[in-house]
Amino acid sequence: MSKDRLIIFDTTLRDGEQSPGASMTQEEKIRIALMLEKMRVDVIEGGFPIASPGDFESVKAIASIVKDSTICGLARALEKDIDRAAEAIKPANSGRIHTFIATSPIHMQNKLRMTPDQVVEQAVFAVKRARHYTDDVEFSCEDAGRSEFDFLCRVIEAAIAAGARTINIPDTVGYQIPSVFGDMVGRLIANIPNADKAVFSVHCHNDLGLAVGNSLAAVMQGARQVECTINGLGERAGNASLEEVVMAIRVRPDVFPVETRIDATHIVPTSRLVSSVTGFPVQPNKAIVGANAFAHESGIHQDGVLKHRETYEIMRAQDVGWSDNKIVLGKHSGRNAFKTRLQELNIELTSEEELNAAFSRFKDLADRKHDIFDEDLMVLMMDARSAQEDVAYELLALNVCSTTGEAPDAKVILKAHGKEQTARAIGGGPVDAVYKAIESIVGETATLALYSVNNITSGTDAQGEVTVRLDKGGRIIHGHGADTDIVIASAKAYVDAWNKLASQALREHPQHHQGV
Ligand code: KIV
Ligand code: ZN
Repeated sequence: MSKDRLIIFDTTLRDGEQSPGASMTQEEKIRIALMLEKMRVDVIEGGFPIASPGDFESVKAIASIVKDSTICGLARALEKDIDRAAEAIKPANSGRIHTFIATSPIHMQNKLRMTPDQVVEQAVFAVKRARHYTDDVEFSCEDAGRSEFDFLCRVIEAAIAAGARTINIPDTVGYQIPSVFGDMVGRLIANIPNADKAVFSVHCHNDLGLAVGNSLAAVMQGARQVECTINGLGERAGNASLEEVVMAIRVRPDVFPVETRIDATHIVPTSRLVSSVTGFPVQPNKAIVGANAFAHESGIHQDGVLKHRETYEIMRAQDVGWSDNKIVLGKHSGRNAFKTRLQELNIELTSEEELNAAFSRFKDLADRKHDIFDEDLMVLMMDARSAQEDVAYELLALNVCSTTGEAPDAKVILKAHGKEQTARAIGGGPVDAVYKAIESIVGETATLALYSVNNITSGTDAQGEVTVRLDKGGRIIHGHGADTDIVIASAKAYVDAWNKLASQALREHPQHHQGV
């Protein structure tokens, strides 16, 4: 008997981007969207087009480029939001407008200051307005997890009658428990007279660590769309993680009455890309995509796996996209070998110039590092691509002197707004000195909320990957840089963060106020 299809709706580029510090450039969003398309995600929520001109342009660009996934734009239940979302998804082969309004007493009274009747009226208005533009309209009851059951039935029935094809039940604050949430979704489907005219969806936050459990419980009770993100990225504790939802369904076909169309072999490369772009590392013990997810440390486990893999493994590492951490390239590798390995890693080059620039960076790295691993290539390509973007600041040269018993002294040369500028500074350590020199060129300061260094691979010649998070008057931004020299990697990360601060206008948050 054939199974129902579970629609995988990825919101890494919208809810994921709402994590403080996870903002992404248009180019980064396109790269992630292309990976999601390759993974065969059904719906990609590209952003919240009314939030800023940058968000609008990103959704529009994704809608123009991605062909095999539906592209969705988020809109509050407001005319201006819906019109803007409609404009952004216009180029899509298949476009969706996702409109929402809060339905819980606490949100209606304190945030919206609207009566339940007004909320129903606004929901119906929004769905009808969205249907002027597309048949594919999704309606969400924000904070459904704390909404009254009878009111949910009323608003959902009205939204379906107005033309919503997907009804999303978000547990916005991550308050729900699997048995209770699954039961609620099942009862909604059973009690709403026109429920058969819509696909029921869930969108769970992870405040109690139950986002995946709640989503799967809802699937057992009839939900046929799950909203999720790569690495579980998202507001506060994040959203349900795509890789966990997809693999639970794949590993337990005996339990779940559904299947997805996801190509799981793209999971790990996509997870790495999202982690590098956002600067949010993946914890080593994270299911499916953590570095230790398939590592067997204890002798008994190792022995068992060697004798028969399935003694301790419920899925194969290769099936979710782990490749052997093998040496792939080195100093003597040619242009063709380099290009072929990038293709094997699903890194597409858009032009000969991009290949030439990337190859010259590869040669430069191979001069300093003997063995080049897949991880090195991924980071190298991230850096090569950021270098091609139009940026306010570019690191031209760096010289740091560290001597025992003396304060380190740094000299930095930056191209700042097209003009070469030099600064010197002394600091508590070499990175501190470099950051002070950069700040004196930029002419501003910001609070350094996070500074972290990770080895990309092992060995003392490994590249260090530095992530910084800056807080500038409440705006949080991250920067990222990699190099075999960690002081240079630190400088790259700081310059990257200042470039983002210089380029990103203030954005509106979808859930801050409704403004009805
Ligand atoms: O968490 C939430 O309620 C949301 C909605 C906008 C769907 O992200
Ligand atoms: Zn959310």
